[in-house]
Amino acid sequence: MDLTPEEQEMLDGKFGKAAKKSMEILTTLGEIFEADSMVKVYGVQVAGVSYANLGEAGLEFLNELAEDGKVRVLTTLNPAGMDRENWQALGIDADFVKNQNRVIDAFAKMGIITTCSCTPYLIGNTPHYGEHIAWAESSAVCYANSVIGARTNREGGPSALASAITGKTPNYGYHKDSNRHGEILFKIKTNVTGTDQFGVLGKLIGNKLVEIGKKVPYIAGISDASVEELKAFCASIATYGGVALFHMERITPEWNEYSKPNESSVEISKEDMLKARSELIDDFSEIDFVSIGCPHATINEIATIATLLRGKKVKKEFWITTARPTKKLADNAGYSKIIEDAGAKFAADTCCVVAPIKERFKGMMVDSAKACYYGRAKNNFKVRIGNLEECVEEAIK
Ligand code: F3S
Repeated sequence: MDLTPEEQEMLDGKFGKAAKKSMEILTTLGEIFEADSMVKVYGVQVAGVSYANLGEAGLEFLNELAEDGKVRVLTTLNPAGMDRENWQALGIDADFVKNQNRVIDAFAKMGIITTCSCTPYLIGNTPHYGEHIAWAESSAVCYANSVIGARTNREGGPSALASAITGKTPNYGYHKDSNRHGEILFKIKTNVTGTDQFGVLGKLIGNKLVEIGKKVPYIAGISDASVEELKAFCASIATYGGVALFHMERITPEWNEYSKPNESSVEISKEDMLKARSELIDDFSEIDFVSIGCPHATINEIATIATLLRGKKVKKEFWITTARPTKKLADNAGYSKIIEDAGAKFAADTCCVVAPIKERFKGMMVDSAKACYYGRAKNNFKVRIGNLEECVEEAIK
């Protein structure tokens, strides 16, 4: 790899131990993927924040970097294992809280903004079109590449952190024009609307891509998609298909930038959607947990929940998972009071997947196909997908 004099000095240790270690991680990655050089990144989003996933070994690695490591670019974190302000109401164990705080303190020492969200693009870590970034959360990576037109590979926790400390990432994969072409055309022959349906579509296309061994779909036939629907779609297609970039005709910014794939297309019908949806509904009767906000809820979604809950009482555990800055907006707008008066709970900077709640509930209802996947795989919950209104209805019935 061609390194600039400054990059070489980082590698040689002239900028300290953490910068040296970080440059070692990045050059090794660059050599594996045959990158020719490094590119400068605008911002970083680091995953691997929950103590439940990191453990003591991960914490030791962080503390080592934090001895002299400081981030050079805007850096935010993925959701943590708990809401630092509301953990008691969410039933999180005090020992876990202590350890989770040690993790966040190590990140803070490096100058990282300790807002923990999988939607950094909603809270100020917002790259523009064509900008290089190094993000680690799969749903956000897919959103940044596809919906914003920024450029990132799907980083691991250590490589993202290394980019934060050096301000660089190896130039390969989705940083290069040549890898951003659509590979296969999907024609959507049915109306798709709502976060739940966009999640179902993401699962359908994601499963198909795994089957045929392709990574970059070009999707035609969607007439309209909101930020909320696109974030649900990104989370789902990344979960079920490992997708980090898609193009959606007339919706995403690069749809017309590269040639349309001329390989045979795949059609998605109403029946395909119904079948995929049925796979996200387990055969069971008891729902004792409802969670909205995977990926983290927007202020718009919170406003809708407040409207639906006004003057009502929830009868089941109901979490709204969101970024703390979005929660603060909801506080100011008066939505939080309505929601909390109804007995629902905010889980800020965490979520129903990364919080340590394995087997605490029997059945979970969500509007997110991604949450269905991890609710089953990680927490052993039975799951049911529904739209936002159906989820709120389930919580109060
Ligand atoms: Fe975000 Fe947690 Fe879903 S990290 S994408 S809310 S699983």
